[in-house]
Amino acid sequence: MRILTPKVLKQYKGKVCLLRADLDVPDRERKNSLRLQAVMETVRLLLSNGVRVVLIGHLGRPAFFGDKKYSFHSMSKFLSQELMEPIRFSSEHNFKNIKKEVRSAPARLFLIENLRYSSGEENNDKEFAKELASIGDFYVNEAFGVSHRAHASLSGVTRFLPSFAGPHLNKELVELGKIMKRRVKPFVVIIGGAKISDKLGVIKNFWGRTDKFLLGGGPANTMLAAEGVPMGDSLVDYNSLDEVKKYAFSPDVILPTDVEMKGTKVLDIGPETTKEYVKIIRGAKTIIWSGPMGMFEKKGFEEGTQAVWKAVLANKKAHTVVGGGDTLASLKLLTTHYELPTNLFLSTGGGAMLEFLSGKKLPGVEALK
Ligand code: 3PG
Repeated sequence: MRILTPKVLKQYKGKVCLLRADLDVPDRERKNSLRLQAVMETVRLLLSNGVRVVLIGHLGRPAFFGDKKYSFHSMSKFLSQELMEPIRFSSEHNFKNIKKEVRSAPARLFLIENLRYSSGEENNDKEFAKELASIGDFYVNEAFGVSHRAHASLSGVTRFLPSFAGPHLNKELVELGKIMKRRVKPFVVIIGGAKISDKLGVIKNFWGRTDKFLLGGGPANTMLAAEGVPMGDSLVDYNSLDEVKKYAFSPDVILPTDVEMKGTKVLDIGPETTKEYVKIIRGAKTIIWSGPMGMFEKKGFEEGTQAVWKAVLANKKAHTVVGGGDTLASLKLLTTHYELPTNLFLSTGGGAMLEFLSGKKLPGVEALK
């Protein structure tokens, strides 16, 4: 895998970098986003070395082209302000026109509208990738968080351009690689959040190598439903019930024994469960965590996630990795002063981090090799 070194920067001075950035950050989380900080550092590095930058990325899962909720319009303004650099924003996916514009406009920084507006992105369409690639002279992946997807801007595009890992992507691989090598027991994996099917796949990959799984959010709801517990209107992946039964009844999988609800919806783990999870976290020597325990953004449903944070930060003996956009955003629940211990690595990836740590190859990383 080739890395974006000073030598490479020198080689591409005056050229155009197609930078796959991790821009999957909702408006409300932008200000303190680790993902955006990483991207902005790399943009600054490229610009200061005389390289022009075309930013590409995705936001959420838009249903159709132009789905306003997922537009990069406000992202463009935000990045321009933070970087103190004008950005030329292209709201279309006409890559031939964008190429002409990039070659002729005096601007140094460009942003193309959410790539998931076009089906070619997620289908890893060859023509889509080729046209996208034609905009740049070289390609850099600085989007670890989505590198578990074989999409055009992560995988396909590397067939048409010299391709490099950005410094932050590289750092993720180095730090997570260390955890892979030193999985000291007791090894605890904490999984919550809303993206259920991804996370259930990860449990399968970790199976037999983990001492305890502590579950919250959608994955816990789905396991409870598989055990036959009525889950009302809670977030449950009903298509996976048969598949997860095997795991739900295992003593290695710790599920909530009490929950906090709004109406018929489970929105957080309850106090007894929290106590149990905190106890297990305290005794762990390796901890991997992705996905909040509940809907922490809603007042009254933040306590489970908050308690898990406190327990994770207090365990200074464990090798700990915490990742994912929502999980990192939930750090703000710690309103009193705290310090991030040196035994903790914060990863920008949620699903990507879990897949990497469970031994799966990430298509976005493999494509750089
Ligand atoms: C993430 O936030 O996990 C990444 O941006 C990937 O998003 P996705 O699950 O919609 O592919």
